[in-house]
Amino acid sequence: MAEENLMEKIVSLAKRRGFVFQGSEIYGGLAGTWDYGPRGVALKNNIKNLWWQMFVDSRDDIYGVDTAILMNEKVWEASGHTGAGFTDPVVECKKGHRFRADHLENKEECPECGEAFSEQKAFNLMFETKVGAEGDTTSYLRPETAQGIFVNFKNVVDSMNPKLPFGIAQIGKAFRNEIAPRDFIFRAREFEQMEVEYFVKESEWKKYFDEWKNIMIEFIQSTGIDAGKVHEVEIEGDDRAHYSKRTIDFEFAYPFGQKELWGLAYRTNHDLVKHTEHSGEALTYFDEENKEHVTPHIIEPSLGIDRTVLAVLVSAYREDELGGEKRVYLAFKPSLAPVKAMVSPLLKNKPELVAKAREVYDTLKKEVPQIMWDDNGNIGKRYRRQDEIGTPFCITIDFDTLGEVPENKDTVTVRDRDTGEQERLPIAEVIKKVVDAIK
Ligand code: GAP
Repeated sequence: MAEENLMEKIVSLAKRRGFVFQGSEIYGGLAGTWDYGPRGVALKNNIKNLWWQMFVDSRDDIYGVDTAILMNEKVWEASGHTGAGFTDPVVECKKGHRFRADHLENKEECPECGEAFSEQKAFNLMFETKVGAEGDTTSYLRPETAQGIFVNFKNVVDSMNPKLPFGIAQIGKAFRNEIAPRDFIFRAREFEQMEVEYFVKESEWKKYFDEWKNIMIEFIQSTGIDAGKVHEVEIEGDDRAHYSKRTIDFEFAYPFGQKELWGLAYRTNHDLVKHTEHSGEALTYFDEENKEHVTPHIIEPSLGIDRTVLAVLVSAYREDELGGEKRVYLAFKPSLAPVKAMVSPLLKNKPELVAKAREVYDTLKKEVPQIMWDDNGNIGKRYRRQDEIGTPFCITIDFDTLGEVPENKDTVTVRDRDTGEQERLPIAEVIKKVVDAIK
């Protein structure tokens, strides 16, 4: 796929087809915020469900949680986020243009107006807020979902009696006051994460680091992200987060450059030790084998959902020629496609066709949740629209279905998104085809 203007094309398609809109658009937007439309939320939910299935439900050693976004401010003192560990270097010119210093090639003068920069400052990325009517309690919108897991370590151990190694997982919103949000949903101020904190014995961290790396590679394949565009990058020394002793970033070749998609970190026992010190609660695990209390070490696969959605969109975007016309389609894996199949009467002004099509639609919808009815415009237009939504199958009910050609009675045409080819199949077989494809 040629990269020329690819981002513009994807952003425009995302809006045109109801995937992603600018946040607060009618008021001119709010930088770094995005709203998911009907197709986008379906795609995002399919990704989240796939992750939950692979990382939580298919395993016996992972416990899911859903913790509060607002947390006691001491959480962030303990974790190091209110300190120097969670800041970005910022410079500002006399005219008020602000930049992340580590993203600038020329750190002397402003690229917008040529003015000299002030001295570099450390800018904390957390959004602060006040809680309660008096407003005297400070809290923060969490910048990672991980801390909600660490502060519930004891609750999960006490209520679930897990055996080491085990993990706690959650999906949820995270917020960072990014200095320069950019590149569509890649760097936002409000975004979502899917995180596992996997607790292990210190002596076994390398083994589980490798195991989680392989699971993340498997997830790349399951989402249909182009594996040829994904690169594992070892993050060295000072570039790692303050809590990490080893980090691998999975970077993706986005149209605007190769950038971080997900991270895998060995967080040592930093967080549990710090929360034990600051809260006075012993966040330890009793090792039955050696009859001792240990503070487990942590392997953390951390996946941003919005960056996953973008990598899935970039990987799925196709342009080709069909029947002498240029077309655009999204070659999603059927299991992730926001619409699995579209059902349509050939003509919408023929009640007998519409009634039969409704019957097929209702039957299919009982078996598969993401089915769409579309009778807008002529059939060619409907196909093009579904191609842009990434619908794997378009099912059309025509006069043959009604028995005009007797041997074709109760058959429908099924159009394949990727080849544009159509075949005629009995209704029962079509249902099986769709169900099999999304398994
Ligand atoms: N708990 C570890 C942690 O939060 P991180 O590397 O800072 O580590 C994890 O973030 C993932 O969250 C990233 O790999 C990325 O997918 C996503 N992410 C981070 N900042 C983001 C932002 N501003 N916009 C969208 N996604 C972001």
